[in-house]
Amino acid sequence: MTNRMWGGRFADGPDALMEAINASISFDRHLYAQDIAGSKAHASMLAAAGILSGEDAQRIHQGLDTIASEIEAGTFPFSAELEDIHMNIEARLKTLIGEPAARLHTARSRNDQVATDFKLWVRDALDNIDAQIAGLQAALVDKAELYADAVMPGFTHLQSAQPVTFGHHLMAYVEMIGRDRARFLDCRRRLNESPLGAAALAGTSFPIDRDATAQALGFDRPAANSLDAVSDRDFALEALSAAAIAASHLSRFSEEIVIWCSAQFGFIRLPDRFSTGSSIMPQKRNPDAAELVRAKTGRVTGALQALLMVMKGLPLAYSKDMQEDKEQVFDGLQTLSLCLEVMTGMVAGLQADTAKMEAAAASGFATATDLADWCVRVLDMPFRDAHHVTGRLVALAETRGCDLADLSMEDLRSVEPRLTDDVRSVLGVRDSVTSRVSYGGTAPENVRREVRRWQDILKSDKRQHDKASSRTRPQ
Ligand code: ARG
Repeated sequence: MTNRMWGGRFADGPDALMEAINASISFDRHLYAQDIAGSKAHASMLAAAGILSGEDAQRIHQGLDTIASEIEAGTFPFSAELEDIHMNIEARLKTLIGEPAARLHTARSRNDQVATDFKLWVRDALDNIDAQIAGLQAALVDKAELYADAVMPGFTHLQSAQPVTFGHHLMAYVEMIGRDRARFLDCRRRLNESPLGAAALAGTSFPIDRDATAQALGFDRPAANSLDAVSDRDFALEALSAAAIAASHLSRFSEEIVIWCSAQFGFIRLPDRFSTGSSIMPQKRNPDAAELVRAKTGRVTGALQALLMVMKGLPLAYSKDMQEDKEQVFDGLQTLSLCLEVMTGMVAGLQADTAKMEAAAASGFATATDLADWCVRVLDMPFRDAHHVTGRLVALAETRGCDLADLSMEDLRSVEPRLTDDVRSVLGVRDSVTSRVSYGGTAPENVRREVRRWQDILKSDKRQHDKASSRTRPQ
């Protein structure tokens, strides 16, 4: 059988292998809602411009509503022969309403249709991810408030460096994923131009109203160049690159969670809901959820790589290569969404062993910098000299097998005679974190201030988000 859409030009139907490589219905069926919204906007515009009768437009709308319910009920007869979601819907529309269905494709091509559908899908995914990141930020802020003055070791090179507060550490991720949110928002802003009406590649001779369809679909404006409109997939690349960066942030955090959960660290405990046991070792409590979030970064980054490879070297305008965009984007963004949800659950449920954290913070001469700073402040020593003095004291404590705070006055003075008992006041880990009040520093009072600042930001974001989404939803 020749193809129903272009049978006029063809004597023979496609090879079975051709169908296997060509059909995209197995995955682009996820675009059905966007495809129907786009077709409705197009039909209404055609009617308003006098290109289609009002009656035809109405029957098209009704037919499309029937199709939406069929798809949602699982009764829609999807066919691989009809290649993709666009032709599946159009063919079904023809069966349901007859001749007017054949008029719907006036002044439109699958090229602008698929670009429109795909942008609408990505835009929804970005809005969802934005809300999910905000949710994760809120969970982190809550925990940071709870642990604003819990002392833990801060690391560089994964070696004890200086004591920090757990609240401060959690707030670092609030900042990181805040930038992820900004990247996604920026991507959404650039994405929000409508390709619809660019037709195959050159525009159309029909008196269409691209502003009307753009507006109906919640786009800010129509894309200005028809060739660009159907060839552009950088919105998808941008979304995936923001997703890859966000996933790598979640992966770093997951790695920390895995380390913190180990018996050797024992800093935190994940809730049962996000842990697994072992079938052979009864004592085990594995942080599988964190490990999987860590690993899924590979998938998200892989999706970005794959789409970059698909797009590189494609001449303008549409090439069928671009059909390969969808699975990567669906998988990449859905994977990130899942990771965000899981991470939010883990953060909300984690409990810190603050005594163990504080004890660990004290080991490894973590307050050596505080001792050096005391020499600078009280003895007016140049920092480099203070660093040297402290280094000798650390070496001495090491040979004595004790902490800096446990060195005798005699030992302290053997290295620097001007040291007094007052130096001990800076050697406790709690003194250390409390003193770090410089802007951005780890002091508990700073953490509490940042928690309040972020609580306000998240509250006003939510208000704006609610307002914006009621404004931009396509009808
Ligand atoms: N299924 C196609 C895709 O996803 C739709 C566009 C087809 N356009 C064409 N000229 N063959 O890219």
